[in-house]
Amino acid sequence: MTRRVRIAPSILAADFSRLGDQVSQAIQAGAEIIHVDVMDGHFVPNLTIGPRVVEALQPITSPAGVLLDVHLMIQEPERLIPDFINAGAGNLTVHVETCPNLHRTIQQIKESGIMAGVTLNPATPLEAIEEILPFVDLVLVMSVNPGYGGQIYIPTITRKIVRLRAILEGQGLSQVELEVDGGIHPGTAGEIVAAGATILVAGSAIFNQQASVVENFNTLKKSLIRD
Ligand code: DX5
Ligand code: ZN
Repeated sequence: MTRRVRIAPSILAADFSRLGDQVSQAIQAGAEIIHVDVMDGHFVPNLTIGPRVVEALQPITSPAGVLLDVHLMIQEPERLIPDFINAGAGNLTVHVETCPNLHRTIQQIKESGIMAGVTLNPATPLEAIEEILPFVDLVLVMSVNPGYGGQIYIPTITRKIVRLRAILEGQGLSQVELEVDGGIHPGTAGEIVAAGATILVAGSAIFNQQASVVENFNTLKKSLIRD
């Protein structure tokens, strides 16, 4: 079965001094989703961006119909969910590890009319999210430990994706997006898609010094086509 697969450039690896320009280039390359990594220095060691940056990107993404996919790597995400919704997020993904009342948190996001996602760290078993699957629009499988870009894809995650795909199909939830995040480049993307992913997050493979954003996007896209 062929599924629609999309690449979501992660701005974590972009040049922040010209962020709008970098996002415009990604959209020009054909990106329909822009991935935004929010880190709080507590749940993960790194500290990145807040709602203000999402708000600044929204006038660039919105006219092009591009989804702002916001990945919340923060403790107590409930406190900031309203701010990210008001800023223009199209999807908000929370970590199961940060949500003791996960169903309530997912409902809080869904009530606003935007997409809701759940994610889990590499060492968190799929069982932790099984009960929430009927209530989410997207599941994000972390294929590196969250916190930094440019890390190496953890190879055992491929079988986790295969198992999640089987669970989704088994529950009649094939419409749920299966997103994978971390270490995705032309050398790893093919097996991730073959395992059942529908959205591939890519930071350092898209924004780097080796080639332009458009060239990198096209190279990654070509690597998805298997003969
Ligand atoms: C890591 C972030 C990722 C990161 C991926 O914690 O969630 O979205 O930007 O970066 P690459 O594609 O460089 O592994
Ligand atoms: Zn991410």
